[in-house]
Amino acid sequence: MHTQRNYDLQRRGDPMGIALIWSLVVMLVRWMFSKRRGAISYDSSDQTALYIRMLGACVIFKQLFSRDVRVRSQVGFEPERRGSHPYLCVDFRTLHSRSENARPVPGRRVHRLFSFQRHLHSSRRLHSATTWPYNPLHILDEDYLGQAKCMLAKVGSWNFDIFLFDRLTNGNSLVTLTFHLLNQYGLIELFQLDMVKLRQFIVMVQEDYHSQNPYHNAVHAADVTQAMYCYLKEPKLAKSLTSCDILLGLLAAATHDLDHPGVNQPFLIKTNHYLAALYRNTSVLENHHWRSAVGLLRETGLFSHLPAEDGLNMERQLGSLILATDISRQNEYLSKFRRHLDQDDLCLGNASHRHFILQMALKCADICNPCRPWELSKQWSEKVTEEFFQQGNIEKRHKLEVSLLCDSQSNTVGDIQIGFMTYVVEPLFSEWARFSDTRLSQTMLGHLGLNKASWSGLRASGSLEEPEPEPDPDPPPPPAPGLAQEPQPQKIPPPEP
Ligand SMILES: *[C@@H]1O[C@H](CO)[C@@H](O)[C@H](O)[C@H]1NC(C)=O
Ligand SMILES: *[C@@H]1O[C@H](CO)[C@@H](O)[C@H](O)[C@H]1NC(C)=O
Ligand SMILES: [Zn+2]
Repeated sequence: MHTQRNYDLQRRGDPMGIALIWSLVVMLVRWMFSKRRGAISYDSSDQTALYIRMLGACVIFKQLFSRDVRVRSQVGFEPERRGSHPYLCVDFRTLHSRSENARPVPGRRVHRLFSFQRHLHSSRRLHSATTWPYNPLHILDEDYLGQAKCMLAKVGSWNFDIFLFDRLTNGNSLVTLTFHLLNQYGLIELFQLDMVKLRQFIVMVQEDYHSQNPYHNAVHAADVTQAMYCYLKEPKLAKSLTSCDILLGLLAAATHDLDHPGVNQPFLIKTNHYLAALYRNTSVLENHHWRSAVGLLRETGLFSHLPAEDGLNMERQLGSLILATDISRQNEYLSKFRRHLDQDDLCLGNASHRHFILQMALKCADICNPCRPWELSKQWSEKVTEEFFQQGNIEKRHKLEVSLLCDSQSNTVGDIQIGFMTYVVEPLFSEWARFSDTRLSQTMLGHLGLNKASWSGLRASGSLEEPEPEPDPDPPPPPAPGLAQEPQPQKIPPPEP
């Protein structure tokens, strides 16, 4: 209890009054879903992925595959599974038992978070909030919410500090921001979205991000959504995008890394993760993010009032946008973008061209960290590196080959960033600036240059905070072409000349 509370306080920057309200919202949503879940029928051709999602299949390497087959082959839902929270867990502890002795892991060790556990969790938090001795809660609330509101007035600013916003909203940046943007665009009315379903959907999206991931968590999703909003406002897009495009763009941004396990695709492949098998080693994570989003859309019935054809079309387009964030396919998209720009044949009256531009916008939003002001950019760099190194440490501990960029002995934050900026970010954003030659594009390229210079300067002056890598008989490979921030480094084609 004590540690739990400390954790909450640390993470949430502690305006407990808001925690209380949110706990109530979350409890309400969970309660409603504990009634509904399991009663949903699918008519999709890809039932498998959805079943997995619905059952909250959590995975243990090696053993997991047979378990997953078993889970999937169940026709109905066992009563006690009802209400289980869909949540992809990679249980690293069990890697150990795999490498040492291939004992089958007892079923109990499949970690599931049932919604009633979440209720308990929430109500405990609720309890501690109400008994907390020094709590001028109402004052804190107004103060924090007031500041968050103030920030929302400038939500289109490129300097928007999403970390601060997340603290002010008590860890609810993604919910607050997404709801605000949909509302501001009038999309809720236009698409006649049910407020209760919408809130359920957004809360569940936020919850299905793993807050323990240093980088791929709900704050990253909120950051990408905010960047996406900045791009949607750019004149060329603003005057041609339809409401449907905007809705899709914002939803895709908010869900694009949903249920990210905090490790990359090569890791999932080499540990025989069921998702790698399910998606045949191809865009494994992105497929899962998309399917997870579709799962939540269907669970909440957010689009159930639309004609079935429109709903399916939304799901398809959402998928096409999310799949475009697979960084290993960057050159494919970039070449197509270049070709269009060279031939000057993009016609934003054409729906498929608009869709392509949305894909490019989402790609930019996803990797725009190096284009933010240094103070923000630096924080993101540290977080993504922490996630890489965390994976590297797991790989070392379990005697797996350490993935590119994931070895804390041979990489530094600065080196990773310089490679990433040079081979991935610059090429993308310079094309984007050709397409949308605006002040924002110039600002982004400006920050990119300055941030790169800062990392180079830090490296040159040797004042990096990381320890110097130990001398290594095998020198680390030179920064690979196409270093990936979204960690999928092995499949990246070389940069174009
Ligand atoms: C995925 O990659 C692994 C490791 O390279 C391989 O063993 C497996 O057969 C591949 N699966 C598919 C469906 O290609
Ligand atoms: C829109 O663009 C696509 C791809 O360039 C093309 O195949 C299609 O014919 C265009 N549609 C219209 C209505 O111009
Ligand atoms: Zn992302």
